[in-house]
Amino acid sequence: MLEDASTTTNDGRAASPAEQDLDGHWNRVIGRRAFLRGAGVAGATALAGSGLLAAGAAASVDTPTAGDIAILRFLCAAEILETDLWEQYEELGGVNGGNSSYMLALENLDGDMPQYISDNTDDERSHAAFLNAYLHSQGAMPVNLDRFRTLPSSKATGAKQIGRLTNLMSLNVDTSWYTRYRSTKNPDFGASFPQAVHIHNQPAIPLNNQDTPPGTGQPVPPTTRHARRMQAIANAAGFHFAMIEQGGSSLYTTMSLKASSLEVLRIIVSIGGVEVDHFAVWHDKAGNAVAQPLAGVTDPETGTHFPDLNARDSELFQTNLIFPEPCDFLDKGLPACSVIRPSTTQNSGAVAAVRALTADNLFQGQTPAFFRTLMRLAQAADAAHRTRV
Ligand SMILES: [Fe+2]
Ligand SMILES: [Fe+2]
Repeated sequence: MLEDASTTTNDGRAASPAEQDLDGHWNRVIGRRAFLRGAGVAGATALAGSGLLAAGAAASVDTPTAGDIAILRFLCAAEILETDLWEQYEELGGVNGGNSSYMLALENLDGDMPQYISDNTDDERSHAAFLNAYLHSQGAMPVNLDRFRTLPSSKATGAKQIGRLTNLMSLNVDTSWYTRYRSTKNPDFGASFPQAVHIHNQPAIPLNNQDTPPGTGQPVPPTTRHARRMQAIANAAGFHFAMIEQGGSSLYTTMSLKASSLEVLRIIVSIGGVEVDHFAVWHDKAGNAVAQPLAGVTDPETGTHFPDLNARDSELFQTNLIFPEPCDFLDKGLPACSVIRPSTTQNSGAVAAVRALTADNLFQGQTPAFFRTLMRLAQAADAAHRTRV
């Protein structure tokens, strides 16, 4: 890998001589391609021959810097993780989902939920595949987390029995994004925001057929214990979808400020815009879990309760206020501005993203090597800084 090529590997082990050789090879490839791509082979030869190739010449071209590569490698890891979690949702509740009761419960939030879940999953797959292919095209080492696909699958009808990177079966879903985007305050000025719903140790996918028997009907409101359980699971998923995608929206915004290559910046803002699009849609759908006629569901196992947020008669909770409220931005002396927030390394950089997903219980059961690998990628991305103007 590029960012710590000398003595350690992705998972923090001391690199073997063979691995160090490989890293050295990648660095040589990057250096050679950067030079050739920037100057053109003929031009480079001429410049070298005439002695005009100044030390700063390479900086004038658009070749990704080591910092750019670190940013893209972390984003690629994040997209691989996103793909893994979205594929679990898709298997059970996507347009060809295998769990009809889960699909019915999701459709109680919006009839298009299975289609949107499948389309979101496709987007994440494309992000991960593109980023790795781009890294490869630049001579950088792609990201591969396959060795960490060790977590169990759901046992419910519809789930493939394969190893997973992420765990959706006992989530702590931070729902403060809901009140944050309705507030005029900005976390980058130190503001904090109340939870919309308290979701702790809550499955967001069905666990097994004993807990949620296949074929159960999902009336609104749910009338049986099994139907309430499944509806609470689907409601938690609705809030989790938006939580994941608002995190992506802030992460990409934050990473864009660190990019040096314009091409890399184009990649970051172009993918980031789609994360924002995902968030906006899920924000709208999650509100249906806490509005009539569905509001009021309590999970009989966990006690998670989805209240009628409109009954609070407060703009901080009103379910159809889904567009971001203008908030403090850059300087409180400037007018409020409707923006993505947060957008600082401290609050929404790569390390902050890893911490948020860890607190979400998304990685419950993962190995220390997984966390070391992810944190090293995150720290390298956060250390990147813009070097060209
Ligand atoms: Fe993505
Ligand atoms: Fe996403």
